[in-house]
Amino acid sequence: DETKSPYYLLGEKQGIEKLVTTFYSLVSKDPLLSPLFPDDLTETAYKQTRFLSQFFGGPPLYTEEFGHPMLRARHMPFPITNTHAKAWINCMERAMTIQKLEPELQEFLLSRLKMTAYHMVNTNEDSE
Ligand code: HEM
Repeated sequence: DETKSPYYLLGEKQGIEKLVTTFYSLVSKDPLLSPLFPDDLTETAYKQTRFLSQFFGGPPLYTEEFGHPMLRARHMPFPITNTHAKAWINCMERAMTIQKLEPELQEFLLSRLKMTAYHMVNTNEDSE
């Protein structure tokens, strides 16, 4: 039943766009994360909206345009530590709280994103 997919519960493409916009405005103010990202986050937000659409059970918008996500490989140019993963999740949690998602939905989405975030870690804290 597609009306029960996380994608649908998030408010489909519009809901995800809103979440992603809030998320990157928090990322741009995060002293640890912002240096990793370009100043102009328009393209980043565009890709993330398309990725999260498919990640949460909606249409495969990212793959349609950019091919297989290969997220870990695409993050290799950036030194990502556990602390970065934690900061990323923290920004996402705050963005979800601002959007007033149902607590159970928020918890479910965050648990999925946490796995992916920690999978992106490619650098030890002390080798930075
Ligand atoms: C791209 C950082 C976790 C999805 C990027 C970029 C950076 C970055 C610096 C490149 C931005 C650009 O040049 O436009 C991080 C850090 C993370 C993290 C520090 C902490 C663990 C995640 C997670 C997801 C994700 C958990 C998915 C749930 C993406 C996507 C892109 C991207 C889809 C665009 C890839 C592309 O097509 O180039 N990330 N990221 N990231 N990230 Fe992350």
